[in-house]
Amino acid sequence: MSDEPAPSAQPDPAASPVPTPHRRRPRYSGKNPRRFEDKYKEHDPARYADTVAKVVASGKTAAGTHRPIMVAEILEVLAPARGEIAVDCTLGYGGHTREILPRLLPGGRLLGLDADPMELPKTEARLRALGFGPDTFTAHRSNFAGLPKVLAAAGLTGADVILADLGLSSMQIDDPARGFSVKFSGPLDMRMNPQRGAPASALLAGLTPAALAQLLTDNADEPRAALLAPVLAGRHFSTTAELAGAVRAALPRLDKDEADLAVRRVFQALRIAVNDEFSALDTLLRHLPACLRPGGRVAMLTFHSGEDRRVKKAFLAGQRDGTYAAIAEEIIRPSPAECGANPRAIPAKLRWARRA
Ligand SMILES: C[S@@+](CC[C@H](N)C(=O)[O-])C[C@H]1O[C@@H](n2cnc3c(N)ncnc32)[C@H](O)[C@@H]1O
Repeated sequence: MSDEPAPSAQPDPAASPVPTPHRRRPRYSGKNPRRFEDKYKEHDPARYADTVAKVVASGKTAAGTHRPIMVAEILEVLAPARGEIAVDCTLGYGGHTREILPRLLPGGRLLGLDADPMELPKTEARLRALGFGPDTFTAHRSNFAGLPKVLAAAGLTGADVILADLGLSSMQIDDPARGFSVKFSGPLDMRMNPQRGAPASALLAGLTPAALAQLLTDNADEPRAALLAPVLAGRHFSTTAELAGAVRAALPRLDKDEADLAVRRVFQALRIAVNDEFSALDTLLRHLPACLRPGGRVAMLTFHSGEDRRVKKAFLAGQRDGTYAAIAEEIIRPSPAECGANPRAIPAKLRWARRA
């Protein structure tokens, strides 16, 4: 063994300081960055709270964040209480979770599920930083169709409160690299979990015109499905911009607003197919009664008719056969004030059910 003193872990004050490499601010033209990845202040809300507040006040969603929808209405129908078990099937940015969780404490806990392996760790870290430890909050990378397995693995037989806020988060929609963006070009991907399944480009390339027409009708009620399908099916589009351009070119008589809506419907239809969203929703609706404790409440936030139809039908059937003691008589809509402050809330429809 050497007698020499062990090297000190402390920095030597006499030594010259290690120079920090100078980092340039991202370059962009104009006063404010336009590209998702350049909006460095919005991506760091903890450091640039003022910038994020200004973006939100202007009715927009700050890049890399998500604004939870109908929070007050959801809290009212779910009525989370001390000591209860809750499941957020669609954790996203954790906006609803961070409101529900404190109401379960002390004694309760919340399980947050999400299919997205890229956003989930970020959300888990944010919730930990807010002080929610693993005894009260756990994050699960899982499709919500697997809810019974997640509950069983956690040693639970059911939950008192279950929330599903369907569709995509703003982080997913706004990041062109995820391939959902109609506005900014990116690879035509659209997978919530990019590690599983095939991207939208491969799906479209493999579809026949008849199959695509059916998909556009079933998933997005596209009125021009018969016209669009032969133009798009079987073709390979690498980017979202190429696909959007092809949809617009196929509908030359439409004005810009109508053509934009057609592009959005085509994107929605493909996204639903790529992620098998309807079959995941049907499976969750089937499992719900077994996953709710007696008296347990479920709230579902939907964003288009294909989703709402399924929820309505399942809740009505459950009420008829006595599984649910009560269900929402009418859909609940976001207030005009919320729609004004956050246009992404406009299509939202809330339904709830209470287990007998
Ligand atoms: C609208 S966002 C939820 C936002 C969240 N309520 C909030 O306030 O931050 C929907 C989230 O659900 C996830 N998701 C959609 N379908 C899913 C499924 N079948 N299983 C698990 N997660 C899903 C998406 O990846 C996305 O993160």
